[in-house]
Amino acid sequence: MKKFSKVLVVIMALVMVLAFSACGEKTGGTLSMATEATFPPYEYYDGDAIVGIDVEIAQAIADKLGMKLEITDIAFDSIIPGVQSGKYDIGLAGMTVTDERLLEVDFSNSYATGVQVVIVKEGSPITSVDDLFGDGNYTIGTQTGTTGFLYATWDIADEGLGTVNSYAKTTDAIEALKTDKIDCIILDSAPAQALVEANADAGLIILDTEYAVEDYAIAMQKGNTELQEKVNKALDELIADGTVQKILDKYITD
Ligand code: ARG
Repeated sequence: MKKFSKVLVVIMALVMVLAFSACGEKTGGTLSMATEATFPPYEYYDGDAIVGIDVEIAQAIADKLGMKLEITDIAFDSIIPGVQSGKYDIGLAGMTVTDERLLEVDFSNSYATGVQVVIVKEGSPITSVDDLFGDGNYTIGTQTGTTGFLYATWDIADEGLGTVNSYAKTTDAIEALKTDKIDCIILDSAPAQALVEANADAGLIILDTEYAVEDYAIAMQKGNTELQEKVNKALDELIADGTVQKILDKYITD
């Protein structure tokens, strides 16, 4: 090889190394995500790492925006205040779009459907959702600030039909059910299934009847249209090219 072409090869190699490192570099800053990670398969701990559907969707969005994803695990009912104040860019936590929340934050387009179900212990007198509105005066466990908590409060406690106990973590609600402190739990179906499976020896079952069907979306600060447009564009592309469905199918098998 002539000396001159050797020099060229070295220069080209250098250019390529520089180009690659520029690609790997996150140029668009940090995308901070608030979540509550006792909600498998949407967000949960695998060792020290938070993993799950929402984490993969957020990472795919961050990748599209050239941003570095930073995840913070906080109480579920702190997510909306944290997004409202601008402490976090996005709230991604299997969060249901509701009219009340729309007064506080804006939501992206929906990326998944959630179904509220009821978990009981085998042999429970509660055999369908309707039993919760009967005269059993049951104690219902929910995660604080969730739609399950709101429904149970509005439909059951406020009507004098039962009591609502709320827990910071879904896993605390499961413990309470296992130890008979509560009669049932209202929870989203995929986490309900995952938690029932994780406690296979506890004899927990999910009732066939559904309490409510909901849409999950990403919460963002009201009026931050620049972020909303970017996130929605990225999310729409990920829905259109099948990435979101692939992530859902990876974690939810039935
Ligand atoms: N979908 C329900 C809601 O929006 C429950 C979400 C709970 N999410 C969580 N990561 N703990 O209220």
